[in-house]
Amino acid sequence: MTLIQNEQEQDDDTGLNLLVEDENVQLISSKIEQARELVDANDPQKAIELCQEILDLGDLPVPFAAKAAGVLRSLGQIEAADKIKTVIVEELDRVHHRLKSPEYALLPAAGVLADLGEAEAADELGQKAIEAEPDNQLVVAGYLSILATVNRPEKARDVAMTFLKAHDQPVLPAIHLGMILSKVGFNGAALACLEYAKANCKTKTETARVEYLLASHGSPASALDQHGMAVELFDSFAVSYDQQLNLLGNNGPNLIFTTLEKLEFDKAKTRRILDAGCGTGLCSAFLRDYASELIGIDLSIKMLEVAREKEGYHFLARTDLSVLETYPEGRFDMIVCADVLVYFGALDTIFYNFNKTLHPGGWLLVTVEHEEDPSVRTGYKLYSTGRYKHSDSYLTETLKDIGFPKPKLITHARLRNDMGHPIKGTVFAVQKPALLL
Ligand SMILES: C[S@@+](CC[C@H](N)C(=O)[O-])C[C@H]1O[C@@H](n2cnc3c(N)ncnc32)[C@H](O)[C@@H]1O
Repeated sequence: MTLIQNEQEQDDDTGLNLLVEDENVQLISSKIEQARELVDANDPQKAIELCQEILDLGDLPVPFAAKAAGVLRSLGQIEAADKIKTVIVEELDRVHHRLKSPEYALLPAAGVLADLGEAEAADELGQKAIEAEPDNQLVVAGYLSILATVNRPEKARDVAMTFLKAHDQPVLPAIHLGMILSKVGFNGAALACLEYAKANCKTKTETARVEYLLASHGSPASALDQHGMAVELFDSFAVSYDQQLNLLGNNGPNLIFTTLEKLEFDKAKTRRILDAGCGTGLCSAFLRDYASELIGIDLSIKMLEVAREKEGYHFLARTDLSVLETYPEGRFDMIVCADVLVYFGALDTIFYNFNKTLHPGGWLLVTVEHEEDPSVRTGYKLYSTGRYKHSDSYLTETLKDIGFPKPKLITHARLRNDMGHPIKGTVFAVQKPALLL
């Protein structure tokens, strides 16, 4: 294993390759992930071989060497792990006083030490990073991840709150840091950030969004303002929505596309289709092939503006799905609702509206997040992501109560990734009974 190599990527003149941005990153990352999966699958021999393969790659950036050491340690290969650790710690010890850049040297080095279990030293470098750039939210976020690795929830809470209290407009930063803390399992610290956000909200929609997140972290709530939450959330990230969803490996629109193909709908452009919660119009490109008329509705004006630029719809309108009465009965031959119902708990009103709006014989195609936990009695639950999951039985029962038959198709597949892990979704297609004459 070579720790010191890539001259262009050297940081702060230490000679250590701490950056992980070179072209091999994807390859090495996926090999480490595979090694972890082999550990989980109880195949230690293959995992050890893979770690050796990673170490033999040469020119290995230090953070990857540390991660490989972590995998080896979890496999009981203590001697090999210690050997790598000793080399890295000695190298870092030699150069740590020369590390200056918070983002490119101090935090990566702190991350390495955290992965190696050197909590004190990791914390010290992380602290140095935020002292160098106290106003940089990304540096604070990086330090919080390191505190998560070394399991210091109290310190993480203090670091986040100190940053927020020095901020003029703390609501968005508090949500951002709160969600990071939530993802690493520091629920108390996450709640502290979200409470602080709530105390500083200036508008009704801001408050609605924060209350939703507080409720999803177990804070009691009497009634949630779904409308306000959605407006605030989607207006704020409409412009970067497509790009961000792409980074998350968004598969929702593709699931709808695949369902249309599976059910062999003809592409005769004869259907009147409603894209309910159309967002930026990611489904419009393929729905056009099936539609004589394609209408998109959404709550967020900003999302609708992005959709309008794509020129995929015949008509776009700002409408709340829960009050769909604005649409005359039997207006549509198909309703598509991709990745929208994850923002609703009970779905009876919406399914009722969809049923009323569909022409007899019309189709409803929906994606939701899949609830697999049978102990969720209601059949749906709000998670700390701020989104709901729904069980298959809840979906089928509610559809039945509204007057829909059994779905023609109900399958499960990856919707997108979250922190590198797939989010399991459900896609279903159900047909409103045709009139018997
Ligand atoms: C995750 S996006 C999905 C957008 C699009 N269907 C897609 O697949 O890319 C969820 C969309 O649902 C919309 N939405 C949430 N609640 C809504 C409501 N009550 N009425 C109408 N649209 C809503 C949001 O504004 C947002 O554009």
